Formats: sequence, structure tokens, C-alpha cells
Amino acid sequence: MDVFETNVSNQHVIDLDKHVFHSWSVQDSAAPIAIAGAQGCNLWDFEGKQYLDFSSQLVNTNIGHQHPKVIDAIKAQAESLVTIAPATANLARGEAAKRILDKAPGNFNKVFFTNAGADANENAIRMARQFTGRDKVLSAYRSYHGNTGSAIAATGDFRRVPNEYSRGHVHFFNPYFYRTEFNAKTQEEECKRALQHLKRVIECEGPDSIAAILLETIPGTAGFLLPPEGYLKGVRDLATEHGIQLIFDEVMVGFGRTGRWFAFEHFNVIPDLVTFAKGVNSGYVPAGGVVVSEPISEYFKSNFFMGGLTYSGHPLAMSAIVATLDAMEEEGIVRYADEVGNTVLGPALIDLMEKHNSIGDIRGKGMFWALELVEDRTTREPLSNEKMASLKAKLTDKGLLSFIVNNRIHVAPPLIVKPNEIAQGVAIISQVLSDFD
Ligand SMILES: Cc1ncc(COP(=O)(O)O)c(C=O)c1O
Repeated sequence: MDVFETNVSNQHVIDLDKHVFHSWSVQDSAAPIAIAGAQGCNLWDFEGKQYLDFSSQLVNTNIGHQHPKVIDAIKAQAESLVTIAPATANLARGEAAKRILDKAPGNFNKVFFTNAGADANENAIRMARQFTGRDKVLSAYRSYHGNTGSAIAATGDFRRVPNEYSRGHVHFFNPYFYRTEFNAKTQEEECKRALQHLKRVIECEGPDSIAAILLETIPGTAGFLLPPEGYLKGVRDLATEHGIQLIFDEVMVGFGRTGRWFAFEHFNVIPDLVTFAKGVNSGYVPAGGVVVSEPISEYFKSNFFMGGLTYSGHPLAMSAIVATLDAMEEEGIVRYADEVGNTVLGPALIDLMEKHNSIGDIRGKGMFWALELVEDRTTREPLSNEKMASLKAKLTDKGLLSFIVNNRIHVAPPLIVKPNEIAQGVAIISQVLSDFD
């Protein structure tokens, strides 16, 4: 069958999908919708039903769907050199690395390319371990770092527990003022106590045995947990004091999502390694990587790096990075995400709190916002799983693709979303929430 045939039914695609084993699913409960095409912030199925993308898929299509310049660059690269080994010097790869380094503030001077975000974290951890000669990695309970050996062991959420095969991982509580672990009454208290807790974890684990602290700059899947003022600076100071490498995972929040090229720019804190994926080329071709600071690059000038991938710096992915970053520059997409995210999307969502008792908290920045839904605002009891499943189904039915995690709606449209599309999406959320107030 020709996959570009136009008279395909949704049911036909869904029937074929029965041969596909899905991620993070009870296979018989996976209920995928069929998508035939997409443009900008809109998608459609094989029978003409339209969807507005309020999730950027898995928070990756930052420049929107089917950007013509990126598609053209991928086509041109496919025609000139579709694949080449990582040990060769490749034009697109060098251009991609140079552009990423140009955007990263700090003393970064190399990029190691991976296939995605998980193996970016995997290799950053490996670099930190080799560089320090130490073994342990500290990371937060409220985090997601990917689905490979060390990345899933570093992850804090429930998906880690059956997958802990990698050694040396220790977890700590990161700040989350709305559901404080520290009995904090103010953000300042949350910050101070979270730092004191981390200090004690470092002391108890033995500072000389810790290679790295791995943190999402702003934890994304965990619910857009914006760190309180001073927290990341405090973590940086603890890391520096003990010779621990600080790795910021920017896989979800990097490349414009929060209105900056890198989310760590909001905090004036520079890590030793940065991991990225998703937004770097909007997922048009899988890619990720590690941005490496000068001292670590220097070390590997004369020490063999124990890591590598057949597709490290694959030309199709690299051409997509170059074209994506150039299009983002030319079209002022990061500035737009900052302005429209903070003056249109954020305020529209905050307004919903007046109307809907089911919203317990709203937090966000740029084009990433989390609505925390509760049974009761006073007790903050999370909205039940059954209600959240029904809410997701209703949103999809009304044509809104949402990113639902636990009791939260994560609102993360492509960065190019127009004000009228924001109004349309927020109106659908409001209609659906009325059933749960
Ligand atoms: C912060 C963060 N790190 C790492 C990953 C893993 O990335 P990938 O699925 O591309 O391996 C994700 C994916 O959602 C993520 O959000």
C-alpha cells in the first residue's frame, strides 16, 4: 500500500497500529489517534478532523509542524550525503555544533551529538565520571531524564523503580513549593531548606565520591517546577565547593521553550555540561547532545572518551538543526515565545483560575505552563486518575491535543502559536474544566 494514498480511513491506520508496541503503555489500553498531516500548530486525521497542538507533541515541535525551510534542508542533505560515519568531518555537523555553542552562554567549546535526550544524559554522566574519577550521581526525585541505563536510574519518578540496573545513583528532593517536602511557608524557606537538604545529602554520601549533580534546569514532566530564586545558584556553589560537575538537563526546556535559548539563562548560573534534544531541531529528525565546557573538553584532548554512537551527528539530523536554529533566528521565534507566552498565554491561563475551582495552582514561563488540578483547593488533593483520563479524552474529542501528566495539564504549544489559537485552546480547556469544578 502507498502510505501517501489519500483515501485511507482512520480505522485502517488504527488497525495497522495493532502491530506497534507503544511506549509507557498497557498495550491494550493504548488508544492512539490517527494523524495524517500537520502544519504550524494544527494537525488533522485521515477524515478531516482538525486538532490544535497544545503539547508540541512531547514538547518538541518548538517551531511548529512542517516548517518549509527545515523540510527543504533535510531533503537537500538527503540528496547530497544521507549518512556518514561519526569519525568523518561533516559540514552540517560542524555548522550545527558551532550554532549551538554560539547560543550557549559560558565557556563551552564542544558538542557531542547523540540520538536523543536519554543518551545525551547517559553520555554527560559518563563524561563527568571519567573527568572526576568519581562514581556517584545525584539527581532529583521530581525529574525525568530518559529511558536508558543511567538516565532512567537518574530519573526520580516511578518509571525508575523497576529499571534500576545502573550503579551509583542517589536522589534528593528538589524544591516544589506548592507541595513542599520541607514544610516551607514561603518560597525563601523552600529554597533555603532544599539547599540545606542537598548539602546534607552530599555530606552523607561523601563529597569525594560524587561525580555529578544532574538537574533539569526547570523540571518539565514533573510539572514545570520553577526553582525558587537562588536555588540553582546554591546548587552551583555546592558543586563547585566539592569539585562536583553540574549537569543541566535542558532536553525539554532548551531552545526557546521558556523564552530563552537555554532556560539556565533565567538564573545566571552556568553548569559544566548541558544536555539537549527535542527543540534543537523540533524533532524533525531524532537528535540530542551534550554541550561540553572547556575544562572537560581539555581533559578529553589527551584522554580517550569511552563513549560513541554509530549515528552521532547524523547528517539528516544535523541539517535539521542548522535549518531550525537559523529559522528561529530569522523569525525571532525565541523572542516571540517570551513575549506572547508571558503576555498572552500565561495571563489567559491564570484567568482560568478565577472561573475553575478545580485549578489549584498555575505556574509557567514563556510557552510552558502547568495547571495543577485538585479535588479541593484547601486540601490540594490531586484530581483523581479517572477524572484526568476523562478530561484528556474530552479535550481530544474537542480537538485539543494536550500533554497530561498525573493531575496536571501541561500547556506547551509550538512557540509560533498565534494569539487566536491560544484563545481557541484556552476556551476548550475552560469548557472541559467546567465538568470537573
Ligand atoms: C528533561 C528530559 N530529559 C530527557 C528526556 C529524554 O529524552 P528522549 O525521550 O529524547 O530520550 C526527556 C524526555 O521527555 C526530558 O523531558
